Amino acid sequence: MNRISTVKSIQDEVFALKKQGKKIGLIPTMGALHEGHLSLVEQARQQCDVIIVSIFVNPTQFNNPSDLANYPRTIEKDMDLLSGHGVMFVFAPSVEEIYPSDYVKPAIDLGALGLVMEGKFRPGHFQGVIEVVKRLLESVQPDAAYFGQKDFQQLAVIHYMVNYFKIPVAIVECPIVRSDRGLALSSRNMRLSEAEKEQALVIYTTLLFVKAHVADASPEALMKQAVERINAAGLKTEYVEIVHPLTLETLTDKWIPGAVCCVAAYCGEVRLIDNMLVG
Ligand code: PAJ
Repeated sequence: MNRISTVKSIQDEVFALKKQGKKIGLIPTMGALHEGHLSLVEQARQQCDVIIVSIFVNPTQFNNPSDLANYPRTIEKDMDLLSGHGVMFVFAPSVEEIYPSDYVKPAIDLGALGLVMEGKFRPGHFQGVIEVVKRLLESVQPDAAYFGQKDFQQLAVIHYMVNYFKIPVAIVECPIVRSDRGLALSSRNMRLSEAEKEQALVIYTTLLFVKAHVADASPEALMKQAVERINAAGLKTEYVEIVHPLTLETLTDKWIPGAVCCVAAYCGEVRLIDNMLVG
């Protein structure tokens, strides 16, 4: 496994491998890796010949400076975790490498996709995600890129961006990996105490509750009950939305197949997100 830090070097490696007919898979991450990230690597391994994991804490997608400052940076541990998983390159560029002085921000209007849920509570976040993912896809030029359904809205935005700019890459969606008891794995979980991890399970049990009651309550009623349940357990809900899987429009009185319930809530200082297919 080689660690590469410049766009030029990763391009040289990839172009040489592509000439040999190798299929390239990219897994973009911000590091602080866990089993959720590894599941993306494993999925890529089944479909690609060459696996590249990028590790880059992207400053432009953090709308809160203290969140950026507190984001765990554990590159040596990440390299250890990745070894034995068939990764050929870890691409870990500097901020200057991704955003050189002549960098031009992509012009794209996400419309409603960028205004609801994460877009509403983290203004500018998806613009930053688009900047970095577009730059990574154009730098590495993989055949396929792997993303987790844990970040459901991020996936919707990335699909939209790839279509909009006609980037020739297959976007592969991978299922959410949870702890034994149901907490969605996240790099942010490192900042939860044991007691908070216990408390945070209410997000998962609430999603299961919503899923179990689609036949006997409206989306609107269940969203309200879900907020009450999460807050009653001591978390601070930012939103619970039951949405159309493609447009992300909130459902009110009618269910549709493929409806997804999305949650963002603070457990102490840590902001957690999760979602589940419920409809
Ligand atoms: P990060 O939070 O490091 O996540 C990297 C990828 O791992 C994302 O596609 C995310 O959805 C996936 N992932 C995280 N936890 C997961 C879990 N429990 N189960 C399945 N997949 C999981 O998401 C980002 O980084 C950044 O926004 C990025 C796309 C890298 C752009 O900076």
